[in-house]
Amino acid sequence: MKVALFGSSGLLGSAVRDALCRRGHQCMAFSLRGTGSEETALCLKNENQVTRVLLDTWPDAVINCAAISSPDLVEGNPGEAYSINVDGAVGLAEISSHLGARFIHVSTDMVFDGNSSPYRSTDCPNPLNEYGRQKLEAEKRVLRVTEENLVVLRITLLNGNSPSGKRSLHEKILRGLFNNTLPVLFSDEIRQPASAENVASVMVELLERPNLNGLFHWAGEEEISRYEMGIRILDRFGFSHDRIKEGSSINYDHGNRPMHLSFELSPLSGKLTTHPASIEEQLQGLLLPNDLYTWYRENVDDASCYIHRIK
Ligand SMILES: NC(=O)c1ccc[n+]([C@@H]2O[C@H](COP(=O)([O-])OP(=O)(O)OC[C@H]3O[C@@H](n4cnc5c(N)ncnc54)[C@H](OP(=O)(O)O)[C@@H]3O)[C@@H](O)[C@H]2O)c1
Repeated sequence: MKVALFGSSGLLGSAVRDALCRRGHQCMAFSLRGTGSEETALCLKNENQVTRVLLDTWPDAVINCAAISSPDLVEGNPGEAYSINVDGAVGLAEISSHLGARFIHVSTDMVFDGNSSPYRSTDCPNPLNEYGRQKLEAEKRVLRVTEENLVVLRITLLNGNSPSGKRSLHEKILRGLFNNTLPVLFSDEIRQPASAENVASVMVELLERPNLNGLFHWAGEEEISRYEMGIRILDRFGFSHDRIKEGSSINYDHGNRPMHLSFELSPLSGKLTTHPASIEEQLQGLLLPNDLYTWYRENVDDASCYIHRIK
């Protein structure tokens, strides 16, 4: 298939791009800045330009991984974020429907308040923050565009290697160590992380399965607290446990983040050949950001865990 991928420079988008290439699809990659190789700069806010590009290229499918995906950034500039997270997403859904192209859109577990995990896709959302409210609004409006040839996939916290080396949890922890700041992670904030690579495989499967349409949930295999995830990341890279600090969300202003988010994976898990990844499988895929390599060589606590592979 000829696939137009938006957000190709992001944590998830870059994994989707790799997965599309592995499956032999032709990928036209778009991001805001278009910095990567063979990646075109295209702002989702520029609806005319987006429409023109898609009419010119007429893809078989459109995948939307573009977003303002940090809740703090959304909170800081909600109007700007809305034009990308909601209007941009709905615009892509409408053009895709016009072109007869399959549309895959990504949403988040943050549409829920975290009081009744594990959530099914039929459960009633109740977002606690502006990011969750915008993602929910986008879901509703995207799903209203058409009942056919369209998927909204809600996913959980992502592990993985981002092109910037700054997006995912392990990249933020390693950068915190590099900058001599002690990251605080909450032991009462429970998530069900997925790897970007695994979610990308699911998205490509959904792309290839036109009989699967509507709203679905996907996550990793296990629940874990952010603090415990941090400890597992330190183990993976050979750092001692005192490099991060255990906290409780009760003692911090955490920007209305839900405490406990996990998903029921059926019915999707029964329909796909991709299986949810365990935490251990996700950890094995984590790499050291290239620019931290020299620092890492000199500062790793346990050299027997030394990660040789770099991005
Ligand atoms: N990361 C997570 O843990 C997580 C969890 C649940 C759901 N999600 C959802 O998964 C999706 C992907 O998230 P992510 O973490 O991969 O995001 P990300 O790493 O922040 O990447 C965002 C992408 O969107 C592009 N973008 C930003 N503003 C744009 C604009 N105005 N026009 C066009 N493109 C623009 C960025 O391009 P530039 O690089 O050029 O700026 C980048 O390619 C999002 O829908 C997010 O809500 C993520």
